[in-house]
Amino acid sequence: MHNDMEKYRKAADHIKSKIGETPQIAVILGSGLGSLADELEQPIEIDYHDIPGFPRTTVAGHAGKLVYGKSGNRYILAMKGRFHYYEGYEISQVVFHIRVFRLLGISSLIVTNAAGGINTSFKPGDLMLITDHIGLFAPSPLRGKNQDEFGTRFPDMCGAYDKGLIEFADRIGRNSGIELKKGVYAFAQGPMFETPAEIRALRILGADAVGMSTVPEVITARHCGMKVLGISCITNMAAGILEQKLDHMGVMDVAKKVGRVFVQLVSDIIAGWEF
Ligand code: HPA
Repeated sequence: MHNDMEKYRKAADHIKSKIGETPQIAVILGSGLGSLADELEQPIEIDYHDIPGFPRTTVAGHAGKLVYGKSGNRYILAMKGRFHYYEGYEISQVVFHIRVFRLLGISSLIVTNAAGGINTSFKPGDLMLITDHIGLFAPSPLRGKNQDEFGTRFPDMCGAYDKGLIEFADRIGRNSGIELKKGVYAFAQGPMFETPAEIRALRILGADAVGMSTVPEVITARHCGMKVLGISCITNMAAGILEQKLDHMGVMDVAKKVGRVFVQLVSDIIAGWEF
């Protein structure tokens, strides 16, 4: 057993010793979307290296630190850099932070990512509210002995992405003049981009976007009863849709360009969030 309760507690205690008032929301910032953390007021940065039990990130564009601070009137905990399965971590390490957040008393999670658009009505630069996911090809983060302190053995995944939060975020988007798409996010293990045939298959299965993160985190968050809002930044059209090669730098470039709008949207969502 890699991540027993004591490891989660040690990490949570370390973070608690560094921050003030308990944040209610954690925000996981996807590739190129880290600027939200840079704009927090009264920031306190905690390097993953310094948190007992925390893995380290290895991907360019993922910084590897937690930033606690104020967004509007609310303290939040932003995660700049996440752990991907393709980096070689055990799946339990990929989701370690989620249970630590729960032990800190955080009840809501905003999870963001860069994703390839499968739905051909999307275009690079679009933001998509995640309505559901397809994680059948992902290793389960709940595999192994159930941690009853966190949740039940067989958690329900209906409504994993909170309907009320989706409607609320949609309204915020409309009020701010930001057009938001909605759709189903499919997990791919990566690190290679998908083949055009895989993208056609995912489309038939009902996916609107594809990415290499998020699903394990959301499963773990739902297992321990956190409310989840998911937002994808469509950084490229998925493989085979356009006559162009896919690369990580292109993904990062688009995510950075959308950065301003993304920060505005998420800040407005946090400001208006009701508990
Ligand atoms: N596929 C998988 N992951 C991604 C993509 C993609 O096209 N774009 C950004 N993350």
